[in-house]
Amino acid sequence: MPLTEAPHPPSINSLLERIRPAVREREPYLVDHPPDIDVKLNQNESPYDLPDDLKDELAERFREVAFNRYPSEQPDRLRRALAGYTGHDEDGILIGNGSNELTYTFGQCLIEPGAPVVLPRPMFSLYEKVVRLEGGEVVGVPPHGEALTFDAEALCEAVRRRDPVLTVLATPNNPTGRAMSLTEVEAVAEAAEGFVLVDEAYTEFAETKSALALLDEHPNVLVMRTFSKAFGLAGLRLGYVLARPAVVRELMKARLPFMVDRMAEETALALLDRPDLLADRIRRLKESCRELTEALWAMRGVTVLPSQTNFVLFRAGHDPGDLLDRLAEKGVLVRDMSGYPETAGYLRVNAGTPRENKAFLDALEKILHATGP
Ligand SMILES: Cc1ncc(COP(=O)(O)O)c(C=O)c1O
Repeated sequence: MPLTEAPHPPSINSLLERIRPAVREREPYLVDHPPDIDVKLNQNESPYDLPDDLKDELAERFREVAFNRYPSEQPDRLRRALAGYTGHDEDGILIGNGSNELTYTFGQCLIEPGAPVVLPRPMFSLYEKVVRLEGGEVVGVPPHGEALTFDAEALCEAVRRRDPVLTVLATPNNPTGRAMSLTEVEAVAEAAEGFVLVDEAYTEFAETKSALALLDEHPNVLVMRTFSKAFGLAGLRLGYVLARPAVVRELMKARLPFMVDRMAEETALALLDRPDLLADRIRRLKESCRELTEALWAMRGVTVLPSQTNFVLFRAGHDPGDLLDRLAEKGVLVRDMSGYPETAGYLRVNAGTPRENKAFLDALEKILHATGP
């Protein structure tokens, strides 16, 4: 057929039809941000920005950065600093543009079409998205009843039965706030022939031990962490994976180069140089989360789940969407967790500063008092 007979330009619909079905079936990851929000407690961020003296120091350091040059493929100084911070071999560290970016790399590297991936439920939605984008099969493992704790036995059983290329344990978990013990994580690692990714985004707030302790004995364990939560650098996008060097080498083949910019590296280095500042923030946020949990417990008709993170899940016998809107009208933003069947009816609120917690609790109290049970 002569080229001129093809309709030109192609219609937008015919173009959209050419997009992979695995993409078209999904929704973009968008987080609502209504106007006039003064108290933002919906994304498990730290309420603490870097102090001014540290920002001034960084502005000086940025002056020395060559903006016209590509960064090195791996930010070497940060890798060295993280080796010191974690006690892990430098060659076994991979730094990414937030841990989300590394999750995509795991998908690219590990998941063939049809490959089973074991995911406890409910869990951070990005994992399911990546599995589906790569054409893998999600093998969901439900939690223990209403308490929403991990069912470690069921996880081991699913891993033995399905032999997944990848099992992901986000512990402590988002959105439940629940954590697995190190013994439970090890049991899953022992049951698995494939990789077990332990996402420790909230580990700094937890009482349970890190899976770092398993890396020597279990070559299939991968530990992933982020600078977005306890470190308070969500806006800069930094995460990292700790694994065997041979595994890191393979992961590097699948990913885009230059994912970590020079300014993010400088900032992380400056923060790692201030362990007292970090320790103080972690202490404050743990305290803030404990106070939030206790205050919610004390409210009539409110159910709260104990949490090992910087956020809590609660429900108040009201339609969660309606409650979210009413809180937003009062300038407080939380997250509706009804998208997961296991957490239908729940809202999630992260620990803020004392002022923010008070604003949230006062607003909730007023709404519940005005509307009754
Ligand atoms: C379990 C879990 N993993 C990873 C992330 C994302 O981390 P990052 O900001 O490093 O991409 C989140 C963010 O909420 C999370 O809850």
